Amino acid sequence: MGRGRRSRWRTGVGLVALLALAGCGIVPPGIDDQAGRTPASTAGSDQSDAPQSPGASDPGEGSTTSTPLQPRADLGYRLPRLGPGTAPGLVARLAAMAAPDFAVVVRWATPAGVTAFGDALDARFADLARGAAAAHGVAWTPGVDIAPGGVGSACAQHPLTPPTGVSLTVDCQIVAAAGSVVGERISVLRRDGRSAAPLERTAWYADVATGEFGDGSALYRPGAEHRVLALLAEGLRDGGFAPTTSDPFAALPPEAARTMLADTVVTADDFVVQVPLEPTPDGLGRRLVSVLVPARLLAPFLSPFGAAVHAAVAGGAPFRVADAPAAADPIDCTLVACASITFDDGPTSLTDGLIDLLHEWRAPATFYLQGVNVEKRPEVAKRLVAEGHELGNHTWNHPALTKLPDPEVRAQVKRTQTAIAAATGVTARSLRPPYGDVDKRVRGVVGLPIVLWDVDTLDWTEPGSEVVAERAVGESSRGSIVLMHDTHSGTVAAVPDVVDGLRDRGFTLATVTEQFGGTLPAAGQTVSHGPR
Ligand code: NI
Repeated sequence: MGRGRRSRWRTGVGLVALLALAGCGIVPPGIDDQAGRTPASTAGSDQSDAPQSPGASDPGEGSTTSTPLQPRADLGYRLPRLGPGTAPGLVARLAAMAAPDFAVVVRWATPAGVTAFGDALDARFADLARGAAAAHGVAWTPGVDIAPGGVGSACAQHPLTPPTGVSLTVDCQIVAAAGSVVGERISVLRRDGRSAAPLERTAWYADVATGEFGDGSALYRPGAEHRVLALLAEGLRDGGFAPTTSDPFAALPPEAARTMLADTVVTADDFVVQVPLEPTPDGLGRRLVSVLVPARLLAPFLSPFGAAVHAAVAGGAPFRVADAPAAADPIDCTLVACASITFDDGPTSLTDGLIDLLHEWRAPATFYLQGVNVEKRPEVAKRLVAEGHELGNHTWNHPALTKLPDPEVRAQVKRTQTAIAAATGVTARSLRPPYGDVDKRVRGVVGLPIVLWDVDTLDWTEPGSEVVAERAVGESSRGSIVLMHDTHSGTVAAVPDVVDGLRDRGFTLATVTEQFGGTLPAAGQTVSHGPR
């Protein structure tokens, strides 16, 4: 989606990340081993920068005939790592916090509009992030400018810079994307000074056609776990990683078995499970070996969900996700750092094109509409609502409200509320007074919360798209509300760079009301930014 427009901001941030890595000698040798990330276990999974094409993990076309029909262990196996381009429609998520001796960076992705799966992952990572902060004795406070790459492409391979002190990083990797199925592997790593310990590795799968989802253990029929473990044991024995005479999983409790199977990666031919070997010398991690079990051997032990996931991956069709509206995905602005972009004075002849851009970039916005323009273009106002954007009241025809007597102030607001409701069926939730012109008397009569802004792009002076984007991106902080106008073509042209630039810094775009958790302050109250 418009990746060509990303280059400018991305390059800047990427360069900073490279310099930081070069200057600090981050990633001390050995830390990966301590994390159980032996060269074998992750050869390609975490170090490789080159996104693999779907074909790389997708033998698809009848290669099963050349695959030995027995489980096998492979220390050098490279887990698939698909580029974001193979999974269009995934929405990137980033929750990050930094304090002098503490940092959390959590990166994940959810398919647009598949809310149950998105909600489940959001809740999981909210717990992890907040739990890490609580364990460190601080309140969770989402920040920006922490993680290179920001909220860019979903599960993009930007280095997660390990800070000094205590840190928790959660990174994601797209391991499958075919048909209606997407697979995302999550790695959770905790660092304390120079030592590091993996807390969790889980592969999640979602079928965007049915809404069904689950971790790797859900691929198997309940009760069949020990049959799957027996196949894993066979592979380990074959590779010389387990004694031939005993069952390496005899002492494994059922819950541990499910945890191990949760890290199952599905390819066209095999189900690949990372099995921990002996502990590393420091005791913090375990070496991992990939055990590949031919899918055909597992067929009797798969759940219907597991069979559907494998069928999709083996089928190898391009991943498809519903074309959800730009603002379909709920956002928790207490977990991620939010900012709002707002457009005043429309709808105009430019607004349709702006809606198209926001759809393409999956960016929610808030529009402060003039009643007189809603009356002229009711269908555009309606389309704003269908796309999930928020509507606000910008008076009927843009007077300076402090110059008007009470009845006229009320009429300006009420007539606009009526026009918006008639055109769209929704009630505007807030008022933005023209010119920001408001006083105590006006606040007392408008009957709506008043939303101003803390970042003014001054786009109406037509400074050029680049300047508009630089102001919007550069002057924003957590909770910012950015003022723009869909009355200027230069503003509309700036929108891709505004959206991309804010995301590169780590902002998640939200509507104004979303910033307040769905409930704006009371009528007559004034805000110029979200909670901070
Ligand atoms: Ni205005």
